[in-house]
Amino acid sequence: MAQGLKVLNAVLPQDVKLETKEYDLGAQRWHRTGDTLPDAELEALRNHDAILLGAIGDPSVPSGVLERGLLLKLRFAFDHFINLRPSKLFPNTATPLAGRPDIDFVVVREGTEGPYTGNGGSLRTGTPAEVATEVSVNTAYGVERVVRDAFERAAARPRKKLTLVHKNNVLVYAGHLWKNTFDRVAAEYPQVSTDYLHVDAATIFFVTQPERFDVIVTDNLFGDILTDLAAAVTGGIGLAASGNINPTGAFPSMFEPVHGSAPDIAGQGKADPTATILSVALLLRHLGYDTEAARIEDAVSADLAERDGVTRTTDEIGDALAVRVAS
Ligand code: IPM
Ligand code: MN
Repeated sequence: MAQGLKVLNAVLPQDVKLETKEYDLGAQRWHRTGDTLPDAELEALRNHDAILLGAIGDPSVPSGVLERGLLLKLRFAFDHFINLRPSKLFPNTATPLAGRPDIDFVVVREGTEGPYTGNGGSLRTGTPAEVATEVSVNTAYGVERVVRDAFERAAARPRKKLTLVHKNNVLVYAGHLWKNTFDRVAAEYPQVSTDYLHVDAATIFFVTQPERFDVIVTDNLFGDILTDLAAAVTGGIGLAASGNINPTGAFPSMFEPVHGSAPDIAGQGKADPTATILSVALLLRHLGYDTEAARIEDAVSADLAERDGVTRTTDEIGDALAVRVAS
């Protein structure tokens, strides 16, 4: 987070007055107070233009507490129905795909529905007869708005290709809603070429033929899984940025690295801040600072291209990128 703010401050023109406010959320706060995200802070966050969220999660906090009580609470409260996750093959990165043709695609992951809504339950919990359900919620409203957004994004890109990823050979009800909506909206975008892949097949192509993808639209859980895979094949999770976006502007959008908090190396100055810094670029683009966003992305590319194999600290990477974006 410190490196993200450093680069943000360095890239903004002098006449842009940046106001930031820090919110103490996450594992340490929870240990101290038992709070994840109290209503007063949620209300206060609502008044910002954008939110930059540090990676959360800690093994000392029971699984799900921070995920549901903080991250998902923010995504749901601020109706972040677009979870935007771009993947680009950066130079000089450790990836099984190094040297392949340019890979540049973006996953538009639905952000407010699917199995993430908490619609489920458990019967006879803890007994040998336990039954657990976790219902995937898909509404016509929710599917249509993310599909439309993905078509808009595809139409604005040079290749104009949109792939729907689902599993409609098994998940027939949700699959039908997604495919039907996709085909109906597609008729309004004759300039966009479309494709459909089952999610299992899509994982093959992410590895064997990633250049076939331009924009991908998919549900919340498939999108979660696919974007970790996308990160792994395009340079590692340390480079993967994301935006939780409410395109209507009714709520502040929120930007965060795709990765977790890496508690095993916390405080050692070893974590790669690049994903957070690239998330700052997404934040800037969302607020209309396209030039500054591009400067950050170009700086990351140049920095990786000129990397000499010497391991740098978190601070050193942040410093190097701050110098590049400022010059
Ligand atoms: C992500 C994360 C979250 C998700 C978790 C931490 C709730 O894995 O942002 O990809 O599943 O969405
Ligand atoms: Mn994830």
